[in-house]
Amino acid sequence: MGEAFAKDPSIRGRIELVTKTGISRKIIDGEPFGYYDTTYDRIIRSCKESLQRLKTDCIDLYLIHREDPLLDPWETGRALLDLKKEGLVREIGVSNFDPFKFEALNKAVGGQLVTNQIEWNPLCYEHFRSGMMDFLCGNRIHPMIWSPLAGGRIFKEEGDAVCAAVRAKIEEIACRHAVSPATIIYAWILYHPVGAVALVGSSRLERLDLAIQAMDVKLKHSEWFEIYAAGGQQIR
Ligand SMILES: NC(=O)c1ccc[n+]([C@@H]2O[C@H](COP(=O)([O-])OP(=O)(O)OC[C@H]3O[C@@H](n4cnc5c(N)ncnc54)[C@H](OP(=O)(O)O)[C@@H]3O)[C@@H](O)[C@H]2O)c1
Repeated sequence: MGEAFAKDPSIRGRIELVTKTGISRKIIDGEPFGYYDTTYDRIIRSCKESLQRLKTDCIDLYLIHREDPLLDPWETGRALLDLKKEGLVREIGVSNFDPFKFEALNKAVGGQLVTNQIEWNPLCYEHFRSGMMDFLCGNRIHPMIWSPLAGGRIFKEEGDAVCAAVRAKIEEIACRHAVSPATIIYAWILYHPVGAVALVGSSRLERLDLAIQAMDVKLKHSEWFEIYAAGGQQIR
């Protein structure tokens, strides 16, 4: 991305740049070891290194990636607020947080977290069970959704009964609306009152178009539940 921005500086003004911090890697006894680090110094350093690599002077949205069990919300929050004050990041948020961790960090930053980037697709309901979706709806915070197509698994995985049922149901609904199955999945995510932003994992332009087409699909309320039930969720 940094090389692209350097080649054509007009690109930077036409996109929203989102990146994350919080995962660290070290070589310990010759072996790579990954762990979390959301301490003040690490966050500040990590952000400045990202800016250098991206050849830009500001990140539009900066996220704390994953739930660090050693997260001190006040220390991490202070780092995020200082980055904002310095103008190095415009907005701040988190990824994969549960409602308790979100609330703790949000308190420390005076309610300035703008999103939680979480996994959700017709095969994954972790954040419905954790109460995160209700928390976000109640606080009018829009999540970013990663792996909306389950990383492509929905279309490919053989031998998994739930996946096969979801795929068959989505194909059936896609036929009704005369659109692609991927478009139906994006429409299903957009239907939810939380006002989610789906992250498209593919960089193939025709697949980006399938996501855009979802904005014109009018799913029925009952169709949303057809997919939900096919994903193994209880509706009665
Ligand atoms: N916060 C986190 O912890 C976290 C974790 C994972 C990802 N993310 C972010 O979320 C973004 C989206 O996640 P994701 O990449 O898992 O998204 P995804 O859109 O669910 O999956 C993308 C994969 O699905 C394949 N695919 C797309 N359309 C398809 C179709 N119609 N038929 C068959 N395969 C299809 C793509 O293949 P092609 O590339 O060939 O089109 C690609 O391999 C990532 O790019 C990343 O930025 C965040």
